[in-house]
Amino acid sequence: MSIWFLLNGLLLIWAIWNVASGVAVHTSYIHILLGFTGFLFFIFNWTRNAVFSTIRNIEGRQNKIRLARMSKRIRPYHRWVGTGAFLIILLHAWAVVALYGFDLGNMKILTGFLASINLFVLVLSGWYRLLVDPRIRIRKLHIRLGISMFILTAVHFLY
Ligand code: HEM
Ligand code: HEM
Repeated sequence: MSIWFLLNGLLLIWAIWNVASGVAVHTSYIHILLGFTGFLFFIFNWTRNAVFSTIRNIEGRQNKIRLARMSKRIRPYHRWVGTGAFLIILLHAWAVVALYGFDLGNMKILTGFLASINLFVLVLSGWYRLLVDPRIRIRKLHIRLGISMFILTAVHFLY
């Protein structure tokens, strides 16, 4: 098992906690539900990292084959889930800015803004990897952008 399963699970629980507290105190919460949906799309794709590192480390051929089959089934959806995450987060940002204005002095808005730039580059690196250059350098970049996206999302939840 990869430690990332645990980390992803914790981030998911944190997101649910924040969303529940947000929805409880706001009269208008479409922007929060959009943020949550975009987050779910991201964490679904990022779990591919947990599955891949489990395949690399797990004992037993049968287990490896089972996980590899599962990840192969998900593969065709990966690109659209990632692109969808970005589009939904754009709607989240649009709804937030309509509500509060584009105030980068607000840490929640600043951290969200940085996270969505990261997400944009992550999605671009994915398409680049698929269509232009699948070499190891781009693969590493794609994974590192996933890690920084994970961290920025956690920072976004902190404020
Ligand atoms: C320009 C981009 C972004 C802006 C301006 C932004 C802004 C905000 C703001 C102001 C809130 C608080 C809403 C409230 O309490 O009324 C919020 C909540 C939320 N955002 Fe973002 N955000 C952005 C990007 C993102 C990204 C990239 C993610 C994750 C993939 C995300 C996920 C969430 C979630 C799940 C919530 C609800 C939970 C919470 O309040 O912590 N947002 N966002
Ligand atoms: C939320 C956004 C995304 C995240 C978190 C993400 C994450 C990942 C992860 C963790 C892997 C496996 C890492 C490895 O190679 O060991 C991967 C593989 C890959 N990703 Fe993404 N990705 C995202 C979006 C995209 C998009 C939009 C595309 C567009 C085509 C894409 C294309 C690929 C390709 C071609 C692979 C390698 C083939 C495969 O294993 O399926 N990714 N991605």
